Amino acid sequence: MVALNINGRAVELNADPKMPLLWAIRDFVGLTGTKYGCGRALCGACTVHLDGDAARSCSIMVSDAVGRKITTIEGVSGTVADAVKAAWQRLDVVQCGYCQSGQIMSAITLLTGNKKPSDEDIDLGMEGNVCRCGAYQRIRAAIHEAAQNL
Ligand code: FES
Ligand code: FES
Repeated sequence: MVALNINGRAVELNADPKMPLLWAIRDFVGLTGTKYGCGRALCGACTVHLDGDAARSCSIMVSDAVGRKITTIEGVSGTVADAVKAAWQRLDVVQCGYCQSGQIMSAITLLTGNKKPSDEDIDLGMEGNVCRCGAYQRIRAAIHEAAQNL
């Protein structure tokens, strides 16, 4: 058994401790907002927060998440998260949507550490999150808009 804390809830999973955290989140807990893209920490689709920081859940073993606060797109909340979600909706950022939970989780981490990021700060903070639809301009604009409301 592996004990995890996901979105403030204690869960016990009958899972291999070496299994990627992403599988635990999606297949064991049933939270499917976090996506699988590359499985190699290259695309950002699987981004969650570990103790508040963006992390690639495809490349973290379940055992390494024990004792840490895991937050997924379904459970993320607070002032920054609210500002990001509102800006995403207002600017209609999403195209196919596949990358977007990861984009939002990374944007929240970026804005939590830097309330007024420049374009360069955004490009740097978001560079690990790939969008196959090329929504980068809207993602950047939404981060600026969210920053104005913080
Ligand atoms: S699926 Fe984890 S970074 Fe691509
Ligand atoms: S919105 Fe389609 S991959 Fe980003």
